[in-house]
Amino acid sequence: MLEPMPAISRSYYALFFVGKRYPSLGFGTPRSTKAAFGKSSPLWQYIVDHSLREHPILKKLRLLTADHPWGQMMVSCDQAQLMANLVKLIKAKKVIEIGVFTGYNTLNMALVLPDNGRVIACDINEEYAKIGKPLWKEAGVEHKIDLRIKPAIQTLDELLAGGEAETFDFAFIDADKESYNEYYEKCLRLIKKGGIIAIDNVLWGGRVLKPRKDDLAAQNIHHLNEKLLRDARVSISMIPMGDGVTLAFKL
Ligand SMILES: C[S@@+](CC[C@H](N)C(=O)[O-])C[C@H]1O[C@@H](n2cnc3c(N)ncnc32)[C@H](O)[C@@H]1O
Repeated sequence: MLEPMPAISRSYYALFFVGKRYPSLGFGTPRSTKAAFGKSSPLWQYIVDHSLREHPILKKLRLLTADHPWGQMMVSCDQAQLMANLVKLIKAKKVIEIGVFTGYNTLNMALVLPDNGRVIACDINEEYAKIGKPLWKEAGVEHKIDLRIKPAIQTLDELLAGGEAETFDFAFIDADKESYNEYYEKCLRLIKKGGIIAIDNVLWGGRVLKPRKDDLAAQNIHHLNEKLLRDARVSISMIPMGDGVTLAFKL
């Protein structure tokens, strides 16, 4: 029998960093967790060695981001590949990314979208995105990426107000955990039936098992997980990959 997915123990170890809240909140020294970023787990490494087919420019961005002080916020490459495969499978044209960071997954999705496809990429920090932008260009997919620097809730509201409800195929939620429920509700309105919402960090380094009263992020994620279980508007799969990702398929 296989041991539990190593990426989870990685998340326990890198709790405060892979936990992906934006660094302005301030967390210790991220460099100290760097050695744990995947490479310490032989089984995770095996998975990557035997499944990852990464575009060379995507790899370049991953390595560049790994060197960033907050590189642990980047989505894991195996999870990104799953999302690219889903985007391809459903022949998505319009996708939303909530939480861009340096744009690894933004580029990952843009690479598999058709030439007239579009990623609405939401973040509040342009400095991070500036790291990835030259590589979006180098990969020839810059024209597919519409970067919106403002609170993601605002961008989602603008899309809804602009008549774009039920026009998106895929959404990836990966920003501040306090707003996860709102992101989910707005994305559910924006995506078509048959579309997919991928929600990252649903295991929150294990803290969802017993969310502390003072841990708002763990509580919010846990409440959303409980709500999703009973949400008749979607069918779901919770996957122990990275820090846990739930796929919600709109019915
Ligand atoms: C975990 S990182 C995203 C990682 C990214 N998906 C990737 O593939 O590497 C979270 C990002 O959410 C952004 N963020 C935090 N709060 C936000 C908000 N209210 N609206 C939009 N973006 C936000 C942060 O600036 C940060 O870049």
